[in-house]
Order: sequence, then C-alpha cells, then structure tokens
Amino acid sequence: MTETRRLDEIALELRNALTRLPRTLPPRWLYDDRGSELFSQITGVPEYYQTETERQILTDHSAAIAEITEATTVIELGSGTSDKTRTLLDAFTAHGLIERFVPLDVSEQTVLDAAEMLSGRHPNIEIAPVVGDFTRDLHRLGDVESSGPKLVMFLGGTLGNFYVEERRAFLGALGDVLSPGDWVLIGMDQVKPVDRLIAAYDDSQGITEAFIRNALTNINATYDGDLDVGNFGYVPFWDGRQERIDMRLRADEPMSARLEGLDLDLELGAGEEIRVEISSKFRPERVVAELADAGFRQPSSAGDHVFADENNDFALVLARRS
Ligand code: AVJ
Repeated sequence: MTETRRLDEIALELRNALTRLPRTLPPRWLYDDRGSELFSQITGVPEYYQTETERQILTDHSAAIAEITEATTVIELGSGTSDKTRTLLDAFTAHGLIERFVPLDVSEQTVLDAAEMLSGRHPNIEIAPVVGDFTRDLHRLGDVESSGPKLVMFLGGTLGNFYVEERRAFLGALGDVLSPGDWVLIGMDQVKPVDRLIAAYDDSQGITEAFIRNALTNINATYDGDLDVGNFGYVPFWDGRQERIDMRLRADEPMSARLEGLDLDLELGAGEEIRVEISSKFRPERVVAELADAGFRQPSSAGDHVFADENNDFALVLARRS
C-alpha cells in the first residue's frame, strides 16, 4: 500500500519536473546501478578534485571532530559505499566514545554491503543501516537511540544538488529531528575560478556526460519511454549569479517522446533543454548562516569549525543544534 503510493509520488514528481519550465530532473534518477558506477568513476578522473580533497580533510581533522563533538552515534546521509567514512570511524574509535554508526542510503544493496564491510573493520561499533531517502525519510532519525550526542554527516558536496528552497527545507528538517547538543558535519565544494569548475563537470574522458545522459536512459527503462538519449547535446553551464554548475541536455533538433508509464507526451523545440543536475558552489560563511536559521550554531568563535584544504577547494562545516 505504502509502496504503491510512494511510487506514484515519485512518478508524479518526475512528471512535474519534466513538464514545468525550465524542465528539470530530481537527482534520484542519476543513481541507478549504472549511474552509481559512473559516479564512482567520476571520483577518479583527474579533473574531479572533490572526492580526494574531502578525503584528505577528513584524514587531517577526524580526530578533532571526534574530540569536539564527543558523539556516541554517527549517522551518514547518502552514505553510498561509506568509503571515506572509514577514516572517520577509525578516529572516533581511537577517541573511544562511539557506540553506533548508522549509514542511510536509498540503495539497499549499497548500504548493506557498506554495513558488512564496516562491521568487519569495527567489531566494537554497532552498525545499523537504514534504507531511506534523505529528502523524505529524515523523520526516521528520530528513532535512532543514542546515549550521548549524535553527529549527522552529509558529505561529498551533495548539499549542492539542492535548489535554495530545497536546501532550506532539508536543513530545517535536520534541525527538527535532532536534539540540542547534537551535531551536523556538512561537506561543500567552494566557489573557485570557472575554468576549473567547468573542467570538473566536462572531463576529457566524457564520464560526466555519460553520467548525465544515463538519467534519461534510466527514465526510459523505468517508464517505458523512448527519449532519444543520443540526440541530446551535453551542456555544462556556469551560472555565475547563482554560483552553480547546471548540467543540461539540449535537444539540438525538435524532438518528441512518449513516456508510457507517466502517461506523458513530451515535445521539445530545437534548442530546448532539460536541466538534469545542478551543483551549487559555496562560501562556507553563507552555509554557516543558513545553518543558524535551521537552529545550528558554531559554539566557539566563527571559523573554528570550518575545516578546509590549504587551497580552499572544499570545506567541511561543523555545527551544533542549540
Ligand atoms: C555527488 C552531488 C557531489 O555535484 O559534484 C559529479 C555529482 N555530478 N559530476 C557533484 C556529480 C557530475 C556530485 N555530487
């Protein structure tokens, strides 16, 4: 019953996104098995600096994060393979307070595999995976028990996939489900010169392009559609006013498509675009201010809890629910 209604909501959300102008796509369509595989390839291309930079920041500052937060339960939203999390759990284990790690991800297989990998490595931590969607299921974190403060991590720059309003709603929901004294640790890609940003989303091997196109392939497969995936041009675009990369697919000639499962006929004019993904770039001070609106404060003087690499390419912001 619930499952059917949920599927309908997801279909409706997609139908609306494709029909309203500008046409967009909810990020979930990027991450089927093929998409997850392509994303993991992206993290290894030379132009895509984010993953390795964040890993380095975590390596350098995990001990401090364990010490500042004294968290006994660590929750990771959109945990994927929990690959970068290993370093952090090592530091928390050394600090000696952590009791439980809760990876949450939409992909059941991914989250169970990650849980198994981590159980082997951390026999003294309870690994309690949750299959869920961080845009819909945050209320479930209210059921997670903890003898001390919780730390919720949202890494990888995923915050950048939200539109401003969605980001406000997400941070607000996080503020609502956590208790005073709990913590959040949020990863973000920083604003930087345009050429490096474009290169990161237009890699020379074409993996990012394949990742973006795959969203349409996934939609065709799910809803019995005939979108002509190969007939779109890939357009990575820097929006300097909103400080974000838009990854768009452009119909170079007029195109029509039928998505049977959505009962939708799409007509695209020549040059019409679908904005498949956005990746906002941040100034950490601004996120600190948005976190304050959601009920999170940085306990000591500002800046103390912003962790970055020496080039300020990426940043992790730590804040406490007050
Ligand atoms: C996983 C959302 C952080 O925005 O950089 C990478 C996804 N899209 N290349 C990002 C992505 C194209 C990525 N995040």
